Amino acid sequence: MSEAADQLIVLDVGAAAHGGYCVARHEGRVVFVRHALPGERVRAAVTEERGSFWRADAVEVLAAAQGRVTPPCPHAGPGRCGGCDWQHADAATQRDLKAAVVREQFARLAGLDVSGLLTAVEPLPPEQGLLGWRTRITYALDRSGRPGLHRHRSGEIERLAACPLGAPGVGDSPALARTWPGLTGIEVARGDDGAVTLIGHRPGAGRQSRGRRPPDRTEVIDGPDVLPHRLGERTFEVAAAGFWQVHPAAAASFAAAVLQAVRPAPGETCLDLYAGAGALTATLADAVGPSGRVIGVESSARAVADATANLAETPWAQVRRGRVDAALLAALGERPDVIVLDPPRAGAGHDVMAALLALAPRAVAYVACDPAALARDVAAAGDLGWRLSGLRAFDAFPMTHHVECVAQLEPGGQLEPGDGSVVRADAARPSP
Ligand SMILES: C[S@@+](CC[C@H](N)C(=O)[O-])C[C@H]1O[C@@H](n2cnc3c(N)ncnc32)[C@H](O)[C@@H]1O
Repeated sequence: MSEAADQLIVLDVGAAAHGGYCVARHEGRVVFVRHALPGERVRAAVTEERGSFWRADAVEVLAAAQGRVTPPCPHAGPGRCGGCDWQHADAATQRDLKAAVVREQFARLAGLDVSGLLTAVEPLPPEQGLLGWRTRITYALDRSGRPGLHRHRSGEIERLAACPLGAPGVGDSPALARTWPGLTGIEVARGDDGAVTLIGHRPGAGRQSRGRRPPDRTEVIDGPDVLPHRLGERTFEVAAAGFWQVHPAAAASFAAAVLQAVRPAPGETCLDLYAGAGALTATLADAVGPSGRVIGVESSARAVADATANLAETPWAQVRRGRVDAALLAALGERPDVIVLDPPRAGAGHDVMAALLALAPRAVAYVACDPAALARDVAAAGDLGWRLSGLRAFDAFPMTHHVECVAQLEPGGQLEPGDGSVVRADAARPSP
């Protein structure tokens, strides 16, 4: 425990920072403060001292911002559940905060002012639906196997009777009333037909990558092994423990944004990297038609099997099993017109960006759940002569700091100030 921790300080709160914080200063030192809003004056308890900066929780609001509301969840607040970050902000304020964070990440990590491209974070339908949207929650278990959610940056668990973010059967799952000895987590997932599956988590085997623990082993405890998810006219059958967008309106919104970004034409060839169970692969397949081709790449054997079944009616679209890397992209031997990528949180990275741009598509759509990783990858693309020509952001994770972006890249250098809506920016704001 540091000397500063538990100190109470008064802060004038500045802009939002990535991760659900706002930036403030105390005696010249940067303080990342949670449970506050820009423009507020708060009394804050210091929770962590990290050399050049502190972390703190606002414990008393001395002057409130206009967008402040009483958190609807009784578990939200300083020292409580870490699952949400912005329960104390109304819907419009949450979206404004996320838009500011996306712009700040691009300014700081890519040197780009995207304020002309990204005017707002878009709500997903139903608008203002801040609660009841999560179709999947993995509850943590305490030492006795009782479910809850982790407190912020803590191994401690907030016990819950219900999570109001959860969809019916997920947020109020009967699993919350039981104990689960021997498991490390209990996941609850809901299909679009209302069926709910309980999935047990155990520690994964194998080597740790980059200091991270290996992925959990999962097993279905109760409910269907496969859940249906609707996207347009199709129903996708997806392994209950496999990947599907968590917000019920997300897959359709991102698919529409991808089509708008790359406008695939009949007869064209598309690559869909990190294809999952084939949601975007099928979307591209419908756009290019039987005279075109779509090649998906996905590392999970189970997701590839699901995608293969889901794409049975569009044989011009296939998902192959493989890890997306520079060697695989070169070995594909394809000259795609369009590339779509939807990588996990860490992003694609410089080498994958260089390898996919070397395939010389006419346009790229990049679906990203972390604006920091996206900004770094867009910067890498910029160094290779590609420009950011479109950027949309969606509030696919209300109440949390998470935001999904869809970026459009085209060949050609970044526009200079005055020539267009994206310009070089110099920004030096701290980040937690
Ligand atoms: C964010 S999901 C996107 C899934 C899909 N595009 C969708 O819209 O449902 C990322 C997917 O990438 C896969 N994945 C992770 N790392 C990968 C890699 N190095 N190569 C290929 N696939 C990978 C995961 O298994 C997961 O299915």
